[in-house]
Amino acid sequence: MDEPREYPVPVASDEDVAAFIARYGTPYDPETDDYHRDPFVADIREGKNDPTYNAHSYHTKVPPRAIIPYILHYTEPGDIILDPFCGSGMTGVAAMISANPPKDLLDAVPGSKIGGRRTILNDLSPAACHIAYNYCTGPDPSLMKGEFDRLIASAEKECEGIYDTFHLEPARGIYDPNNFEVSVRLCETSEHLLLKDLEPKSSAREDWVLVSRGEAESMLGSKVVSESPLPAEVFRFIRMPASIVYTVWSDVYRCEGMITVEEHGAISRKTGKTSLRKVRRPRGCGAEIILWEVAVDLDAGKVHESFRCPKCDQIWEKTQIKRIDVRPVLVVYRYMGLKHRIKDNRVVSVEFVAQRPPTTFDLEKIEDAKRAVEGAHVPNAPIDVKGPQYNRNALSARKVTLLADFYSPRNLLVLASFWNQQKSRMCDETRATSFLLTSVFGSIERLTRFRFGRGGNGWLPGQLYFPSLSVEENVFDAVKTKTPRIIQLYDTQRRTADGLFDFAVSCGDAGGLRGIPDDSIDYIFCDPPFGSNIYYSEVNWLYECWLGRRTDREPEAVVHRKNDRGTKSIESYSDRMCLAFLEMFRVLKPGRFATIEFNNSDGRVFEAIKHAVRDAGFSIENMVFLDKVQKTFKQSKGGRGEEDVVGHDVIFNLMKPLRDCSDRRSTVNSAYITYEQFIVEIVRSHLKTLPDRIGTAPQTYSDEHRTTPFLNTMLMTTLIPRGVNVERLNLPFIESVCSRYFKKIDNRWYLPEQVVGPTTNGKLFNEEVNVSDEASAIQWLRQRLGTTPMRIGELRPHWMKATVKLTGELSTQIERLLRENLWLDRSTRRWRIPTDDELAELNNHERQRACHDAERFLEGKLSAPPTDADILGWIERLYSAAGRLEEESHGLVEPQTS
Ligand SMILES: C[S@@+](CC[C@H](N)C(=O)[O-])C[C@H]1O[C@@H](n2cnc3c(N)ncnc32)[C@H](O)[C@@H]1O
Ligand SMILES: [Zn+2]
Repeated sequence: MDEPREYPVPVASDEDVAAFIARYGTPYDPETDDYHRDPFVADIREGKNDPTYNAHSYHTKVPPRAIIPYILHYTEPGDIILDPFCGSGMTGVAAMISANPPKDLLDAVPGSKIGGRRTILNDLSPAACHIAYNYCTGPDPSLMKGEFDRLIASAEKECEGIYDTFHLEPARGIYDPNNFEVSVRLCETSEHLLLKDLEPKSSAREDWVLVSRGEAESMLGSKVVSESPLPAEVFRFIRMPASIVYTVWSDVYRCEGMITVEEHGAISRKTGKTSLRKVRRPRGCGAEIILWEVAVDLDAGKVHESFRCPKCDQIWEKTQIKRIDVRPVLVVYRYMGLKHRIKDNRVVSVEFVAQRPPTTFDLEKIEDAKRAVEGAHVPNAPIDVKGPQYNRNALSARKVTLLADFYSPRNLLVLASFWNQQKSRMCDETRATSFLLTSVFGSIERLTRFRFGRGGNGWLPGQLYFPSLSVEENVFDAVKTKTPRIIQLYDTQRRTADGLFDFAVSCGDAGGLRGIPDDSIDYIFCDPPFGSNIYYSEVNWLYECWLGRRTDREPEAVVHRKNDRGTKSIESYSDRMCLAFLEMFRVLKPGRFATIEFNNSDGRVFEAIKHAVRDAGFSIENMVFLDKVQKTFKQSKGGRGEEDVVGHDVIFNLMKPLRDCSDRRSTVNSAYITYEQFIVEIVRSHLKTLPDRIGTAPQTYSDEHRTTPFLNTMLMTTLIPRGVNVERLNLPFIESVCSRYFKKIDNRWYLPEQVVGPTTNGKLFNEEVNVSDEASAIQWLRQRLGTTPMRIGELRPHWMKATVKLTGELSTQIERLLRENLWLDRSTRRWRIPTDDELAELNNHERQRACHDAERFLEGKLSAPPTDADILGWIERLYSAAGRLEEESHGLVEPQTS
């Protein structure tokens, strides 16, 4: 394995690409060309729970169902589509499925024609090309099934017993050795030797062994015995073979570090008091601290930030002390045991899953694997120590220098064995088996995070990050789980692709598509790298070491974050994008479209893309949303307002004009005085119309469209086509603008005058809302008055209690909050939640706005001086408001008699 392998993918050379186009392309003739399409306008929402999509992962994937409507809209069967940043090749899959698209997609695009389209898929990364190629074509599934089974069987043979462990059961009850079901399984039970000889491999017959208490204890090791003692009254146990499902490894620290303490200093002559000063002092007893033992709360499913040294009681955080090792702490295994089946009163063999700390036997097996790695053919490629993630994720502190360091010794041996069992030449089978093997990447490395049983263990997509608690999965299990999915994918390819579908995969820079002639492509769909989100070449290196061909990093379009070393600046990213868009412009036929999917919260990256697009000569026809529904981890954090990541992708629809129409570019509507006001108006209009859109298209729109990340996306899609600079646009900026004009409830923005109801999951109403700001105060009032309408006198004591800890003005503003958000029933003088009509009256937008503007004017905060007409308008509206205010005031004063 240390020798470089032959890269298994037949990538197309420039000549091959040119030949592909010569074979399938229809030359562009301006005289006769009558292509015309309007830009595709629908917002798309597509989930990722599609077996084809999930056959093989990639760091960012666009679901093919999200691409198909574009292909159906913009192209004809047999047209040539280009994806110059193809990643896992989903554009190719979508082109293939267009031969036989799902009915709902076909119905959604009137006038679309069924039939496969030809696709040129290009990516700089050989790993991406490998995935893309296999996604578009595979060998005959019935033959491949046999090939996969052969591969697994030979790797299993070579690594026989590598994940073996054992399970112990007290030899009593159902496991009494005199029971027939037990005795037939006990290998040294002489009465059944005959039966054993007859059926040596029968599934019901396992090598069970009867062991003494002493033997059981020595197999387990004193630590395990003391943690989960064997029942004291039992002296014989049955040892059953078991297989490890996964092993959890924990970081180990040394109790030794510096902490900051406050100490008494000199006595002040003036005050006579001793001063306190902060000093750094060494602490710790030098003992080992196993994170798993001191910081993990399995019931709550979390790791505590701070923990106590079990020896000296010193409290530490991970960052204060030195990590010295990793150690196995938990083994989850399965075994075939016995169960009494009530239905037919029989004892049957059943698979059980159990867990315990590693035993002496388990630890010895790990040591065996370590020794075996030293003499084995395993990859020894050194990692690029200048890579941004290498520094950011402190890989040197973990002594990670080689590819081998990304795997536990056991998993490395198994993976290397799998790889070495493959047919060595470049052929369909090797391509497919390599695809099967890389499909388990992301779950078998030391990067795999322990997730407390939630949503499966796995790595952080796109990150070379070693977690403190990592999971060593059984590689055989992972490969066996993927096998049917890959076979299913090959099956789908055979069923779906028609005679028109074909594809070519090229591996190179999107800024130099030399094989593609000018004006030869019918449509482009792509998803370019998003600035600094993912360093593809660094992460794909893990795949490429095994595949035998590495990414040429020089042309990679990526921005290194400011703390990362390297030469990839926003300017160089921008240049790369310009080259790529120039190429896209060159190869696209005039009058044709390019759809660019994009996701970024950094306005500078958006600006770079926008400039590249315009400088190339494209016109931005429109922008729409793509909601990939199942969010990535970082995206869901963004939705909760925790991290600077955008939840929705945006889609630019670009056109290569028939003639230069750069004069179409517009500028900011001059009626708006400032950038901020312009943004506020767009958000206001979005929030105002959202309830209607949710009502008419609940599949597409939801309250998620009120989050800051979504507003960011929405603003980008609105501003960029209008030619507005979006450099300043980022999540903190939007947060700060919105907080001045709108109200935020549960991380979602509402118009100030909008009366907010319960959230869809009703959570807000289950427990008393904690009043911390205006939004939560409104929720609190609605919660109180929702069940029982109250007079102000009844409500006030509760309010005082709820706001006792607040320091600002809010606690004194119950009247205003009631007036703006609740309804006074004049007959009972009780406040309650408004009906729809009353809501409309409360939401009298014009009046609210006039009050707001007038207030700001009086405070001297209104940026532009009002005109006479403005002031007259205010007076009129304020007069009408005054009537209502007067009435309300009756309900805001506690009547003397009550
Ligand atoms: C966002 S991903 C594309 C994901 C793809 N849409 C999918 O569904 O899997 C961007 C891709 O651009 C590639 N890339 C980065 N710089 C490139 C360049 N200069 N030329 C071509 N590809 C590049 C990366 O390797 C990465 O695979
Ligand atoms: Zn200690």
